[in-house]
Amino acid sequence: MSQELSRRNFVRNSAVAAAAMAGPAVLPALGQNEKINMGWIGTGGRGYYLLQRAYDGNASAVNVTAVCDTFSTNMNRGKDLVATRQGRAPKAVADYKEILNDKSIDAVVIATPEHLHHRMLLDALAAGKHVYVEKPLSHTIEEAQEILKVSKTSKSIVQVGTQNRSNSLYQMAKTMIEQGIIGNCHYTRAFWYRNALPTGAAAWRYSIPEDLSAQTADWQRFLGPASKREFNRARYSQWRLYWDYSSGIATDLMVHQTDVTAFVMGKGTPSSIIASGGVYRWTENDDRDVPDTWSVLLDYEAEKFHVNYSCYLGNAKFGYGEQFCGNEGTIEVINRSTLNYYPEVFAPGMNENVKERKELTITIPRNDNLAVEAHIRNFLNAIKGKEQAIAPVRAGFDAVVAGLLSVVSYREGKKILWDAKTDTYKRA
Ligand SMILES: NC(=O)c1ccc[n+]([C@@H]2O[C@H](COP(=O)([O-])OP(=O)(O)OC[C@H]3O[C@@H](n4cnc5c(N)ncnc54)[C@H](O)[C@@H]3O)[C@@H](O)[C@H]2O)c1
Repeated sequence: MSQELSRRNFVRNSAVAAAAMAGPAVLPALGQNEKINMGWIGTGGRGYYLLQRAYDGNASAVNVTAVCDTFSTNMNRGKDLVATRQGRAPKAVADYKEILNDKSIDAVVIATPEHLHHRMLLDALAAGKHVYVEKPLSHTIEEAQEILKVSKTSKSIVQVGTQNRSNSLYQMAKTMIEQGIIGNCHYTRAFWYRNALPTGAAAWRYSIPEDLSAQTADWQRFLGPASKREFNRARYSQWRLYWDYSSGIATDLMVHQTDVTAFVMGKGTPSSIIASGGVYRWTENDDRDVPDTWSVLLDYEAEKFHVNYSCYLGNAKFGYGEQFCGNEGTIEVINRSTLNYYPEVFAPGMNENVKERKELTITIPRNDNLAVEAHIRNFLNAIKGKEQAIAPVRAGFDAVVAGLLSVVSYREGKKILWDAKTDTYKRA
């Protein structure tokens, strides 16, 4: 590398990289200054937060005309937020098809539990809507394959909610690595560690709203394609813990990390995956299905690249992060808000060029909020034909397939191989 990188260079180069990612006009259906009419499907924890981010970061571009939720309390919360921020109450419905049938709505946000994404996304595309769909893209590999196929003939913009791609620190890490500051990189370590008191929200045991009942929530619509069963308050609000609706760590947390590693390192779907883990921490009075302890090895053999992933929901010491380990240095992004760069330390006399490089730390407070706002902005700009979506279906597909292959590996106790030519898998 001819020139050592200064912080100012990193920032400028990240802006250049972001601009370079903005492609030609895609679907110039709307005027450049027009607000986009939007429907919000799911106004629970994430849907409500996305509404806040839409107003805080993108108020001039958004006009929410309808909200949808099957739990009346959450529906009313979403409706009230829109009324407060826009000065006019939106239509509020329990059936998302009413939103899709509304021709005045250009785009929808889907922020419902994982097992509902596939059907809602396909229905939204069939109705000609642009879609911001929360991660993970789907609940099964077969669903992801179908979404990928349909999206190839759709003119709609799809943005998957893996907002780390819109995070300035990951964009900076990508630029730095492309410029060669860590040398060759064949290895990334990614991890997410969390802890909680058994009396608190013990690893997704979120407190259940007192008024959640079969009268206030539409259980059949919540179940969607999942197995039929009696109304269950825990399953409705703690759905992440059950295979029927989620794959737990693999699709809730790991998808973010395999996604952003692929983004930073320019990779696609891994060629092989092997996973291990279990329910080891949260066993007392707990009927959860999904592991709380999770390790996965992902190989990209043709590209000589490896990801070592680990997650444990019983200790928070090391937090959340990805460490890009090159033969001349390391870049890590921690808790989405701090980037550290460390030149590799060599013995005296070795590699003078690397020795010249200085450590670097950049911290940006509330950076995940900023990333989500930028991610929504990118979606809106893509609809207006000003940019390309930074997390299109293919990115969501690669991320969710990595997560779901790890589940197949764990449940079957086998290494799983992915064929990138056919986008299919087989057991090793
Ligand atoms: N990108 C991120 O960092 C991030 C963070 C948190 C959650 N998420 C994702 O957002 C999604 C939602 O997660 P959450 O934490 O908000 O869950 P949540 O349980 O808090 O909210 C889900 C909402 O969907 C509603 N719902 C259920 N079935 C419905 C249906 N058929 N039609 C309409 N509404 C229905 C529920 O009543 C609830 O209000 C998940 O896919 C999750 O992975 C992403």
